[in-house]
Amino acid sequence: MKTGFEKYDIAVIPGDGVGPEVMAEAVKLLKRIARLDGSLDFDLTFYPWGCEYYLETGEMMPADGLDILAGHDAILLGAIGYPGVPDHISLRDLLLKIRSGFDQYINLRPVKLLKGAACPLKDVRPEDIDMIFVRENSEGEYFGTGSWEGKGTPGETAIQESVFTRKGCERVIRYAFDLAEKTGKSLTSVSKGNALNYSMVFWDQIFEEIKSEYPGVETHSLLVDAASMFMVKDPARFGVVVTSNLFGDILTDLGAAIAGGMGLASGANLDPEKRFPSMFEPIHGSAPDIAGTGQSDPLASAWSVSQMLDHLGHEDWGHMILEAIERLLSEGKALTPDQGGKATTSECGDALADALEEIWRNRK
Ligand code: IPM
Ligand code: MN
Repeated sequence: MKTGFEKYDIAVIPGDGVGPEVMAEAVKLLKRIARLDGSLDFDLTFYPWGCEYYLETGEMMPADGLDILAGHDAILLGAIGYPGVPDHISLRDLLLKIRSGFDQYINLRPVKLLKGAACPLKDVRPEDIDMIFVRENSEGEYFGTGSWEGKGTPGETAIQESVFTRKGCERVIRYAFDLAEKTGKSLTSVSKGNALNYSMVFWDQIFEEIKSEYPGVETHSLLVDAASMFMVKDPARFGVVVTSNLFGDILTDLGAAIAGGMGLASGANLDPEKRFPSMFEPIHGSAPDIAGTGQSDPLASAWSVSQMLDHLGHEDWGHMILEAIERLLSEGKALTPDQGGKATTSECGDALADALEEIWRNRK
């Protein structure tokens, strides 16, 4: 917890589809916090980057976009992607460019069943689903190199390279061990050494090496196929989970499905060394099918604000936001249709800010 007055300079990229709608509610939350907490303020700078910007300018963000963002303390992102711009362009030129340009090598994704959130699994209590995924976020299967030869011929071949470096594996695995040590949770490494005979054998070896530095941490290693099965059959066995970029992408959607749905799932793209700003986002994407209908769920975006406040050293506020989300879910109050309610995005956001205020007042 910080003391004294702190003002944070936040870059806000609402983006595409439902992005601006859920971002409006995240901003509402930040404004409420600043109003309540006299020692905390946020200076928000909005950037209109995304697919519409691309259709006007030919680029997803300006050529010096990263330089512009570099001056901020953190980045809040809504969602990126819209029909009319191929996903591999919109995502690679904005989302992935920021992740890699700022070396945000940790993607921290809580898979935690809040009280009152719907779970499709049988006989599961909230405390049975309390995982935190540490997804490698800078290399692996997402490295982006490869080749596509013989286009249109019978021998046409596409090769996508997976790049695993010692530095890249060590730093993410070490981060996960530190987190497990700090939280007292177990650590599970998820890989696929039985089939991926270079990259994943290497990953497993590095996991074993680093394990010896942390004798106090309970560890497990699982193949990704088995891990996905256990997430459904026995989610309580997981605490901290560390895995590669692609596996982490897939398993955290599964995680969202067992912990209240995509409308609740949030992710932090972190540069733990704080050389660059970190970026916080709901992971549901731009949902063009419901954009503009007022049905999008602002809770994931609110959770990403909670992660941002944790990262900035205001864990007290981060925690109170989670409590407020939990309160709405438990009371079944002001929820959007994905959570079984009838509220609009902005009604849900208002109720959330009010719940947060009440929690804060009762704490004083
Ligand atoms: C996510 C998304 C992205 C990813 C896509 C949009 C590139 O699915 O943040 O999980 O795979 O990293
Ligand atoms: Mn994903």
